[in-house]
Amino acid sequence: MDLERLKREAALRALEFVRPGIKLGLGSGSTAAHFVAVLAERVRGGLDVVCVPSSEATKLQASRLGIPLTTLDEAPVLDLTVDGADEIDPELNLIKGGGGALLREKIVAQASREFVVIADETKRVERLGRFPLPIEVVEYGLGATRLALAAAFRSAGCEGPLRLRMKPDGHVFVTDQGHLILDAGLGQIPDALSLARGLADVAGAVEHGLFIGLARRAVVAGGGGVEIIERT
Ligand code: A5P
Repeated sequence: MDLERLKREAALRALEFVRPGIKLGLGSGSTAAHFVAVLAERVRGGLDVVCVPSSEATKLQASRLGIPLTTLDEAPVLDLTVDGADEIDPELNLIKGGGGALLREKIVAQASREFVVIADETKRVERLGRFPLPIEVVEYGLGATRLALAAAFRSAGCEGPLRLRMKPDGHVFVTDQGHLILDAGLGQIPDALSLARGLADVAGAVEHGLFIGLARRAVVAGGGGVEIIERT
């Protein structure tokens, strides 16, 4: 299966939700990068949009491609955000943050009237958790934060190792906001909402990669074509 082709197909299809004149949030990751690329073609063709990027990487890509950019300070309410995901469950709850941009991504998604997730079909799961759940943490008190996170997992009926994310060069991965990422290998998450609430109580955890109730629509490309899934 050519995943890059599927990602691009999902990105192209998502353009149908982009109306002229809107304020648009741009996601991060390889699928979102396809969306930025196809959006840039439309902008060159005269489409009038102004965009808020959810990571430094997306900001760089979008500005190089000539997409007009602004910030959430200038435009605190967005009409639409289009972003990728690491996992999508049948209720369109998501795991995000595989690229480490989950904090800004969630801020941008929450600032948007509509949030559309784009993906290839490999991202669909019956239950979230196979993909390690990214949790953005502050460096201070990391040992204590690990213990508090493990307690939150147990309360939500899950368990698994917490790994500090490293870069391929052996250095610790640091987010755009200067934080660290712990990846929780939970295998499955029986109740994502309960886990999300428990994680929100951990002071050292700045944000987690569970996106609950944010996506109303998913554009998923597979071997049989592109499917648009609406949350009921
Ligand atoms: C970035 O932090 C992530 O949330 C991405 O949106 C997610 O990891 C999906 O990335 P890909 O589109 O590269 O699979």
